[in-house]
Amino acid sequence: MKVKQLQLSVEVYASSDELTPGDAALLTEARQVAEAAYAPYSRFRVGAAALLKNGKIIKGTNQENASYPVGICAERTLLSSAATLFPEMPLEVMAISYHNLNGDSSRPVSPCGVCRQTLVEFEKRTGQPVRLILGGLTGEVYIIHAAKDLLPLTFTSDDLNR
Ligand code: THU
Repeated sequence: MKVKQLQLSVEVYASSDELTPGDAALLTEARQVAEAAYAPYSRFRVGAAALLKNGKIIKGTNQENASYPVGICAERTLLSSAATLFPEMPLEVMAISYHNLNGDSSRPVSPCGVCRQTLVEFEKRTGQPVRLILGGLTGEVYIIHAAKDLLPLTFTSDDLNR
């Protein structure tokens, strides 16, 4: 038996003021678009904004439903739009923010498991990592260099074809 160490590196910034102007602007877009979320049940509004390789900016918000499991996260709303409007166009970077109407919005949150799996599929099909900028309305900001890093031992199409 041996133990395999799996590593995740996260850049931690004290606030969005420390980001490059481009990253800070994208996070601002994510913060703003979060207010367009349809989240009457959780009261947890999530906004995502992404820069595509062709220079276009695409946004997404969470869209909930009275039948709770029908709801979709902001990240997957964004990825569906991106893949529909600009098929196979790589996505350089996605900023994700939120407004928690129940309490605190001052720390980064990471994409849920289903969104991580969807992001990894997107990275694979476009052949390019998606850099992630995670931040609340205020407070620390995390940067992760590839969405794949958030899902170690990922299941992919390679497993199906072996
Ligand atoms: N949500 C997202 O949109 N993205 C995430 O990464 C985590 C959770 C949404 C789903 C649901 O509408 C609400 O936040 C509370 O879970």
